[in-house]
Amino acid sequence: MKFFIDTANLADIREAQEMGVLDGVTTNPSLMAKEGITGKDNVMRHYKQICEIVGSDVSAEVISIKYEEMIKEGDELAELDENIVVKIPMTGDGVKAIKYFSEKGIRTNCTLIFSAGQALLAAKAGASFVSPFVGRLDDISTDGMELIEQIVTIFTNYGYTTEVLAASVRHPMHVIKCAEIGADVMTAPLSVIKALLNHPLTDSGLAKFLADHEKANLPVKK
Ligand code: E4P
Repeated sequence: MKFFIDTANLADIREAQEMGVLDGVTTNPSLMAKEGITGKDNVMRHYKQICEIVGSDVSAEVISIKYEEMIKEGDELAELDENIVVKIPMTGDGVKAIKYFSEKGIRTNCTLIFSAGQALLAAKAGASFVSPFVGRLDDISTDGMELIEQIVTIFTNYGYTTEVLAASVRHPMHVIKCAEIGADVMTAPLSVIKALLNHPLTDSGLAKFLADHEKANLPVKK
């Protein structure tokens, strides 16, 4: 399973990249706003900086909601860097735009997926990724993981090459569940990726190894 980091924070992206486990980045307008990135030039520059750090897939979301504007914005984003994946919301105009980009060979990530039907439409239009939002479904007492399972089954049944990118991943168990189900990608904040490191038995085991080593290597008294 590929690991993407879900942030526009350059320090977090660098840290995940340095861990050696990063396969890409997803951003969205809220994450860009959180970093204070405003104005087209700054936004474009920021995406370029992210691409330079990771050298792999970077999802950059369009703000436009009308087809004509979406394709203009998406074309500009795609021109920025070969690793840009144009992120398109799941709407009628969005599906049309995905079809347009897929025919042009530009990769897309269809975002705000909350049902298997939406995922199927995006795959049929030629999306490279679909992003079902696990955590936001859990938030409204609906099992987000069931949706991941459904989409993986449907795409496998028909051999769709669209990758299932589990988004809105909130904790380590979401990551493990995604991997068990066979999601192609999961995207999560740095805190969730780092939480996978932790186990109390690892900490106590390491402390004991180091203490035993120190005891055995005490200088011999003459
Ligand atoms: C996905 O690409 C979205 O940007 C993101 O995962 C949404 O996560 P949230 O529900 O934690 O905001």
